[in-house]
Order: sequence, then C-alpha cells, then structure tokens
Amino acid sequence: MKIAVTGKGGVGKSTIVGMLARALSEQSWKVLAIDADPDANLASAIGVPPELLAELRPISAMKDLALERTGATPGSGAFFILNPRVDDIPDRFSVEHAGVKLLAMGTIEHAGGGCVCPEHALVRTLLRHILTRRDESVLIDMEAGIEHFGRGTIESVDLLIIVVEPGTRSFQTGQQIERLARELGIKQICYVANKVASAEDQAFILEHAAGRDLLLSMPFDREVQIADQAGVSCYDQSKDFRERAHAFAQEVTRRVVH
Ligand SMILES: Nc1ncnc2c1ncn2[C@@H]1O[C@H](COP(=O)(O)OP(=O)(O)O)[C@@H](O)[C@H]1O
Ligand SMILES: [Mg+2]
Repeated sequence: MKIAVTGKGGVGKSTIVGMLARALSEQSWKVLAIDADPDANLASAIGVPPELLAELRPISAMKDLALERTGATPGSGAFFILNPRVDDIPDRFSVEHAGVKLLAMGTIEHAGGGCVCPEHALVRTLLRHILTRRDESVLIDMEAGIEHFGRGTIESVDLLIIVVEPGTRSFQTGQQIERLARELGIKQICYVANKVASAEDQAFILEHAAGRDLLLSMPFDREVQIADQAGVSCYDQSKDFRERAHAFAQEVTRRVVH
C-alpha cells in the first residue's frame, strides 16, 4: 500500500509517519518510509540512531548520481535523460532501522516551477518508480501540499492523509490540499487530527471536519514532546503511544487493503 501524509508545517506529519512506519513494520509489513519534506526530520520520529542517520544522504543533493544517471555532462547543455535508471536507488541509498527503510529525497522543486535539472529529473522519476513499481508499503512524509509531485505520480497513492490540529489555519491548508488532491483524482483522502488536548478541541475538530473522512484523533501527548526533545522516537518510549500506533496502523490497513 502507498500512503502519503501532508499538512501544514508543525502539525505532526513526521510524528504520524514515524508511528505508522514502526507499527506496520511490527505487523510484518515491509516498510519503505520516504522523507520528502525539505525540512527533513522523519528519522528521529522513526527512531533512527544518529550514527546511522549520518549515513543518510538526500537524493537531490547527490549531484554526481544525478549526472551519472541522466547522462548530463558539463557541456552537454540542456540535453539529458528525463527518465533515468532509478530501480536500485531505494535499496542502495536508504538506511534501515527496526525493519523500516528510510530514504531522504531532499528538496523537490514544484512540477510547475520551471526547474529542469538532472537532480529533479532523478527525484521525480524515483518517486514515480517507488509509487508504481515497489511492492512494499510506502509511507511518504511530505511538506504542505502535493504540487511538488506533479501529474503522473501522486495519483498512485492509495490513501492521502491530511494532518490537522485544532486550529483554523491547519484546516485552511488542509482544504487547499484536498481540493487539488480531488482534481488530481486521488482515490482516498482522509484527515487525522493531532494534538487534541481537550473536549473543546475535539468539538472544534468535529465541527471543522464535518462531511470529511476523519480517520483518527490523536490526543496532545506530553510524551511525544519529551521524546522529541531527547531526539528519540516516542514509539520506543511509551506503551500508550505504541498501542495507539497499532490501532492506527490497523485502521489504515483496513481502509487500503479491504
Ligand atoms: N500528539 C502530540 N502531542 C504533543 N506534541 C506533539 C504531538 N504530535 C507532534 N507533536 C510535536 O509537534 C512538533 C511538530 O511535530 P512534527 O511531527 O515534527 O510535525 P511536522 O512534521 O508536521 O512538521 C514536534 O515538536 C512534536 O514533538
Ligand atoms: Mg516533519
């Protein structure tokens, strides 16, 4: 199954992708997690130790790889291969922790942004390959929005999760994303509410998510903050968090597989 997670900055996308990745892995899924947010911080949410993280290099930063794969040599001008070979990249350039493979994409230019360079041809071809050819469950941690992917890529996800918190702005961002996602024909779009701290918060969420598919409400959890401050995954620290992660993973699986 292919799942993408998006939403306004700071709502908890990486926290949610991290918990889902760990729970799915423990439920015997092969998991490939993709950090596609330039503000990359998925590794600590998964619990990747710093020594291993040091080995992880964002694909878009590997100029040599992009040149090698696209055949763009200095002096070749604008001519290079737009669909380079990428099938070996996920296994070669990911790090693995607790059964979760993690790949970092680095910065992805908007498809309509006009940037045509070897690095971005490589990253876009790689994303398309991962979403359409890999057989494991793929989780993508994205920045706010889905424009970066362009047509022909993001439509392949089985489920788009939009994360919101009890606040108007995160819902505004979410609705803009939802509109574009519907235009692109994404099959299933659902919301996850995060940092719900009170009955008032929950009422706010229910009011604003009315008519939408609300998959889960995650409570505000001090343990998540404490884990983040320590640079570790809450999944390794809190039994409550793990239980929530497993229930969430089962619900996601039910939606996508059944
Ligand atoms: N359920 C939660 N309860 C309390 N704090 C949370 C919760 N989820 C996320 N956070 C905190 O919110 C901040 C942003 O989370 P993060 O997952 O990095 O968001 P994003 O990836 O959307 O930018 C972090 O400091 C994180 O610890
Ligand atoms: Mg993040």
